[in-house]
Amino acid sequence: MSLSHEALKEVNASEENKLRPLRFSDFTGQAKTLERLQIMVGASKARQDTLNHILISGPPGLGKTTLAHILGNEMGVHVHVTSGPVIEKAADLAGLLTNLAEKDILFIDEIHRLPKTVEEYLFSAMEDFCIDVMIDQGPNARSIRLCIPRFTLLGATTRSGLLSAPLRSRFTLQTRLNYYDKEDLQKIILRSAKLLQIDLSPSGALEIASRSRGTPRIANNLVYFVRDFSQQKGVSKIDRDIAHQALQILDIDENGLDELDKKILYTLSEHFQGKPVGIKTLAIAVGEEPDTLSEVHEPFLIQEGYLQRTPQGRQITPKGYSVIHGQQPLASWFNL
Ligand SMILES: Nc1ncnc2c1ncn2[C@@H]1O[C@H](COP(=O)(O)OP(=O)(O)O)[C@@H](O)[C@H]1O
Ligand SMILES: [Mg+2]
Repeated sequence: MSLSHEALKEVNASEENKLRPLRFSDFTGQAKTLERLQIMVGASKARQDTLNHILISGPPGLGKTTLAHILGNEMGVHVHVTSGPVIEKAADLAGLLTNLAEKDILFIDEIHRLPKTVEEYLFSAMEDFCIDVMIDQGPNARSIRLCIPRFTLLGATTRSGLLSAPLRSRFTLQTRLNYYDKEDLQKIILRSAKLLQIDLSPSGALEIASRSRGTPRIANNLVYFVRDFSQQKGVSKIDRDIAHQALQILDIDENGLDELDKKILYTLSEHFQGKPVGIKTLAIAVGEEPDTLSEVHEPFLIQEGYLQRTPQGRQITPKGYSVIHGQQPLASWFNL
C-alpha cells in the first residue's frame, strides 16, 4: 500500500518538526533578529505583559515558523497557527480571535495573502483588541463591538513588499531573516545529524552547508539524503568524500544555486549580454513573477555577489558570469 500525497506530507512535516529548534538557545544565526526578539520577550515577561505584534519576513525555509513556535515556548503561551489564504472572510478571523486566551500568539503565515477586507478588520483587533461583528441579516442587521483578549499577532511573509503600509505599521517589530552563512549552516547540519544519530564529520557538514543555498530547510533535506546514501553504501561514518558523492547524485550545484537562480544569471549574461535590465523585463524573460524574483531569488544572488542592483536595473557581476560559464569574462565584456 502506498501513502497518499497528503499522508506523505504529514510524514515529512513530522520529520521536519523533529529537527525544529524549540528554544532561542537552539536557534543558530540571525543574530540581529534573535537579539530583538529576546529583548521583547524578556521585557514582556518581566512586566507580565502580552508580547507586542511582530512581523517576520524572509525567503522560504529560513526559520519563520520555527521562530513562531520558539516565541510561544519562551513566552509560555499557546501559538494558534493559520495562514493568509485560509482566512477568506471577516467571520473566519472573528472565529479565530474570539478563541484566543490572554497573551496567546496568533501566527498568520503568508500574511501578505490575507484578503483586503479581512486585513482592515484586523486593524482594530491589533490596536484596540476589539472587533465589530455583524449580527442578524436584512433590516435587523446591526453591528456589535466584541472585546477580545490581548493577544500577539505574529505575521510571517516571504513578500514583505506586498504588505500594505497600514498593516505593516501596526507591527511594533518588523524583522527580516537573511540567508545563513556556511558556518551557521554547518552548525545547524551538525545539530540535525546529532538528533538523527548520524555520524557526520565537520568537513562533511561543511560540504553539505556549501550546497544548501543559505537555507536550513534545504540543508536538512540534504542531510536526509546523505544519510540514506551512506546507509545504502554500508558506510557508518560520513566524511567530506561521502557527502560529496551523495550530493553529486542529486546534481546539486556546488554553489547551491537552484534552477531559477541559474536561469536568471544565464538570461542576464546571454540575452542581455551583461547590461542592466529592469526587474519586470527580467521577470518576463525567465517566466516568473517580479515579486518572486525580488523577494526570493535576488537576495541570495546579491548576497553571494553574483548580481547587483544598479539604478538602471539588475546586472550580472563578473563573479556571476564565471559561476555560469566556468570561466572569467573577457575584460572588455563589462564595459560594453
Ligand atoms: N536557525 C535555525 N537553526 C536550526 N534549524 C533551523 C533554523 N532555521 C530553520 N531551521 C530548520 O529549517 C526548517 C525550516 O524552517 P521554517 O521555520 O519552517 O522556515 P520558514 O517558515 O521560514 O519557511 C525547520 O524545520 C528547522 O528545523
Ligand atoms: Mg513557514
